[in-house]
Amino acid sequence: MHNSVLYNDMKTILVTEEEIDRIVTRIAAEIDRDYAHMEGKLLLLGILKGSVVFMGDLMKKINTPVEIDFMKVSSYGNATHTSGRLSIKLDIDRHDLSESNIIIVEDIVDSGRTLSYLTEHLKRNGARSVRVATMLDKQCRDPEFKDFKADYTGAVIPNEFVVGYGLDYAEKYRALPYVGILKPEVYTK
Ligand code: IMP
Ligand code: MG
Repeated sequence: MHNSVLYNDMKTILVTEEEIDRIVTRIAAEIDRDYAHMEGKLLLLGILKGSVVFMGDLMKKINTPVEIDFMKVSSYGNATHTSGRLSIKLDIDRHDLSESNIIIVEDIVDSGRTLSYLTEHLKRNGARSVRVATMLDKQCRDPEFKDFKADYTGAVIPNEFVVGYGLDYAEKYRALPYVGILKPEVYTK
């Protein structure tokens, strides 16, 4: 099961493949329940690149018909801490959002900066409704975004830098089917 050479770089596995499967099943059921009587359509909006694995799993388990779209937003560089910047690199591929009930699909919430910013942006651009589904939450908000809360949360994790299930360190480890913490020496070599 842990047959990737990258497994050797892991200090701890925080969320296993089996746990992830149960989490995604649970969130999909919550979404089906919450959007059963919606007006308009349901749009899953994945944030590139970290959300792609969660997005792929989640959309398969949601029974409600969904459309998908993607945005690319950047607030981190190649470092393990926030750069405090956020910019839209790739915008949503549609103009009229008035029929769209958007669920932003994200890999992880940390400071809350990215998602607070995006939620406001989409509402300003006329989205019918905006909610957030995140696989992971570190729950260490910047004071400025302290009230930010995701509507659907997979797992709350400690404030450690994690990789796998879409999350990278310098573009590595995204394809791992679990979430883990890297050995410290991986950062220094
Ligand atoms: P926020 O704006 O501080 O909430 O940061 C969210 C973004 O930072 C995520 O979409 C990730 O791309 C990145 N990020 C935050 N924590 C981690 C981590 O532990 N591993 C990899 N990327 C992370
Ligand atoms: Mg991301």
